[in-house]
Amino acid sequence: MSEETLSNLSHEERRFPPPPELSAQANVTTDTYAEAAADPEAFWAKQAERLTWGTTPTQTLDWSNPPFAKWFADGELNAAVNCCDRHVEAGHGDRVAFHWEGEPGDTRTITYAELTDEVCRAANALTELGVRAGDRVAIYMPMIPEAAVAMLACARIGAPHTVVFGGFSADALASRIADCDCQVVITADGGYRKGKPSALKPAVDEALTRCPGVRNVLVVRRTEQETAMTEGRDLWWHEFVGRQSSEHEAQMFNAEHPLYIMYTSGSTGKPKGILHTTGGYLVGTSWTHWATFDLKPETDVFWTAADIGWVTGHSYLVYGPLTNGTTSVMYEGTPETPHQGRWWEIIEKYKISILYCAPTAIRTFMKWGAEIPAKFDLSSLRILGSVGEPINPEAYVWYRTHIGGDRTPVVDTWWQTETGMHMITPMPGVTAGKPGAAMTPVPGISVEVVNDEAQPVGNGEGGYLTITKPWPSMLRTLWGDDERFVETYWSRFPGMYFAGDGAKKDEDGDIWFLGRVDDVMNVSGHRMSTTEIESALVSHPKVAEAAVVGATDATTGQAIVAFVILRSEAGDGGPDVVQELRQHVAKEIGAIARPRQIMVVEELPKTRSGKIMRRLLRDIAENRELGDVTTLTDSTVMELIKDNMAGAK
Ligand code: WT7
Repeated sequence: MSEETLSNLSHEERRFPPPPELSAQANVTTDTYAEAAADPEAFWAKQAERLTWGTTPTQTLDWSNPPFAKWFADGELNAAVNCCDRHVEAGHGDRVAFHWEGEPGDTRTITYAELTDEVCRAANALTELGVRAGDRVAIYMPMIPEAAVAMLACARIGAPHTVVFGGFSADALASRIADCDCQVVITADGGYRKGKPSALKPAVDEALTRCPGVRNVLVVRRTEQETAMTEGRDLWWHEFVGRQSSEHEAQMFNAEHPLYIMYTSGSTGKPKGILHTTGGYLVGTSWTHWATFDLKPETDVFWTAADIGWVTGHSYLVYGPLTNGTTSVMYEGTPETPHQGRWWEIIEKYKISILYCAPTAIRTFMKWGAEIPAKFDLSSLRILGSVGEPINPEAYVWYRTHIGGDRTPVVDTWWQTETGMHMITPMPGVTAGKPGAAMTPVPGISVEVVNDEAQPVGNGEGGYLTITKPWPSMLRTLWGDDERFVETYWSRFPGMYFAGDGAKKDEDGDIWFLGRVDDVMNVSGHRMSTTEIESALVSHPKVAEAAVVGATDATTGQAIVAFVILRSEAGDGGPDVVQELRQHVAKEIGAIARPRQIMVVEELPKTRSGKIMRRLLRDIAENRELGDVTTLTDSTVMELIKDNMAGAK
């Protein structure tokens, strides 16, 4: 991280104290912090009482074999019962679980009683297909209620799900299905995006040509587009799930039973299967959802505007909100369809009180102009959340002013797929917010910013963010790869979890995030690996070598910029080579991985040990003066690249 970034950030003087009426009724107070600090394990043991257990745990944390944690290890529970049945039993069956809004404007309202019935039917259907506790199920769905139902049905029968984002390609889907050996896939004919039906099933069909282990595919009918169905393998959800009984007796599973696997990009090419288990994950997501958003389940209407294919969708659209008996909104489509005020229209319509989204969305709305949200009644909002990447002070203040009516606290929540739950965030009734800062660890969480020698840095200094004590919803391992789990997260600093983020403690000791310190990019709040995109590029016959960097981008946070060397047989690659390569990456990984820019170069800058110097390429991509080039094998390479680019523009 550059000195420039560090000093820029410390000039932020604006402070936004919590509204007094919010503080007066807040779920979290300064006492909560004191209680958790005094005995974090006792604090989490108490939070476990939020759940309904078949067997109440007597143990809290088992850290006898670090870094492999067990939480509430002698407890037993069922995740779906905690999300559905118990609210019905408590007399809240008529409470709305989801107000669903389809992109074309069709809607569905699903109560907790209806959700419970539907989850039971789907659980019976999966059982009929031979899915047993421990078997993995892949879910590749648009943002429709059945996506949540499918996840909960898996959880109900103890079959860990792996949800693959619907924007990922057939290849990406195939590699995830293969890595965790799924036998059943749940999908849909398609979903609506940007005013049109967008097919999903053909990608499943293509993926399955490489996944012979998949026995059945359950297909939800959403768009009614022509859909090929393979006899004996593919089944329509409305027929097969539709004819099942809504009675299903849930079995209790051990707290450490796997709940799901979520693949995320690491600093090498192969995505990592992050494994979350049941008890600790639900305690962590349920408590943080209630705490960070000051949730009042009887009156709040909560909206996480994130896709179910990311961890935010898992923790704060499904598991956290549903364990808390929340009324949530789920929206299928894009923010500009059919007009750029769609989100604000949705907030007005459902009287949403808490909105949770990514800075990249906020920056897009800033670009579209404040007069758009100004046309809608947003007075129901009382808390705004941000997630996925650092929120720059301008976006924070715009969000608070133009969406929050200069009234609502903004909670900037730092966490990761790996952490499962919020780790560093303001609490809306306690913290005086600073635009751009994630502030302080959640009660019960211990973090430290350390230097290269693992020593805590002082206030006003930067370093690496580490987590110093185990937490309930931490990942338990990487699917099938304990060694990589230890190596990636627990080797850099002994005894501490290394998050991969640069961070700074300001004069008050509050935490600011400065971006990744590894080869991971953050594009629109989505994590992408430079190496993964490089391998996609070199898999193209015209490409000899590729280097990918994340360049600062005003809207998406970072943007993907690729430098490629063509094979000599390819000549100059032809006039459309750049387009061809961008398309190729989209096909290999998914449209979100399509580089913003590809530059064809003759050489790449490398260190004497042969490592590509991405820092220099980033300087070029961001049009900065070149950094130190003395470790380059041949420092003229950079001049060549620059000349080459000047020609390319
Ligand atoms: C990485 C994790 C958290 C769910 C969505 C992304 C970055 C995330 C923040 C934030 C600064 C943030 C970090 C982190 N990040 N939230 N509030 N401030 N950076 O989950 O795909 O696992 O990505 O996103 O770099 O390591 P993910």
